[in-house]
Amino acid sequence: MDFERSASAHPAALVDPFGRAIKYLRVSVTDRCDFRCVYCMAENMSFLPKQDLLTLEELDRLCSAFVAKGVRKLRLTGGEPLVRRSIMTLFASLSRHLDEGRLDELTLTTNGSQLPKYATELAANGVRRVNISLDTLDADCFRTITRWGELDKVLAGIEAALAAGLRVKINAVALKGVNEDEIPVLVEWAHGRGMDLTLIEVMPLGDIGEERLTQYLPLSIVRGRLAERYTLEDLDDRTGGPARYVRVKETGGRLGFITPMTHNFCESCNRVRVTCTGTLYMCLGQEDAADLRTPLRASEANDLLYAAIDEAIARKPKGHDFVIDRRHRRPALARHMSVTGG
Ligand SMILES: C[S@@+](CC[C@H](N)C(=O)[O-])C[C@H]1O[C@@H](n2cnc3c(N)ncnc32)[C@H](O)[C@@H]1O
Ligand code: SF4
Repeated sequence: MDFERSASAHPAALVDPFGRAIKYLRVSVTDRCDFRCVYCMAENMSFLPKQDLLTLEELDRLCSAFVAKGVRKLRLTGGEPLVRRSIMTLFASLSRHLDEGRLDELTLTTNGSQLPKYATELAANGVRRVNISLDTLDADCFRTITRWGELDKVLAGIEAALAAGLRVKINAVALKGVNEDEIPVLVEWAHGRGMDLTLIEVMPLGDIGEERLTQYLPLSIVRGRLAERYTLEDLDDRTGGPARYVRVKETGGRLGFITPMTHNFCESCNRVRVTCTGTLYMCLGQEDAADLRTPLRASEANDLLYAAIDEAIARKPKGHDFVIDRRHRRPALARHMSVTGG
């Protein structure tokens, strides 16, 4: 696909009203998934009709428009990005921006189940790091959390990623009464294999048919418990993202905490998200969104698309206001995490 589709081959960079430069785009390439994690989806989900989805060519065009406007990091997510048919063609086409120096990083977040099949190809397409979600090393607990997943397949996926030379970060959602006692085991397992581990607080997205309050475990509590067992040394690496990192002195590994509920990370936010239907969300925690599919399809040139992106970024809010407490039992937002991606 031709990168320079319009008269404005070098369109204006993206800076929001609070002076934050938008350098990072997360793209949900499908809302479908081969798992049904209890905090993410209801067991009986209805998915988008296929005709509503952007084609892989349209996703490439959309991502490339953001790259032209200064985005330096692209993360494909979902749903499960690796269950989208022919998804490797999108990685392959986007890798030209890495080769040509326009993009610093092309990466993905995955549940790992398809990595035995794809790890080598991902590495060949310029992917250097991958985030793999894994909340437990206990096969029964894994089945309880993911409903449909098999631990062995994910562990094989992690091995395949490491064997392909990818750097792996494990993401684990901390769940009250489910995996909270296992967190030190996860720390030692991940660090023992040279992988970072990031712990995530449950966010109130989507009506998933479970009592959100029963899942929510503040990471301030988890961190306090870990600090009784290990020496946690604060690190400065912020990467513009929501995670705060520590070095666990005893293991030598990095441990991240993503705490949307107990710590507000919005002031350094450099990212926006696009869904598989081309809806741009300027903030994970707010409903305001912009339709990019219409301008994308309206014209072969990118001018309308650039104008729609500019107009949306001018509305990027200062921050989110998630709340989980006894007065807020409804999800703060109706859409599921699998729509906007994690
Ligand atoms: C929505 S998934 C999409 C990518 C892929 N399917 C995976 O699981 O890694 C991205 C991340 O969001 C996390 N996640 C899903 N629902 C969440 C919720 N309600 N609160 C916090 N994290 C959530 C998942 O654990 C995962 O690490
Ligand atoms: S967290 Fe990922 S693997 Fe689990 S249901 Fe959601 S999209 Fe699928």
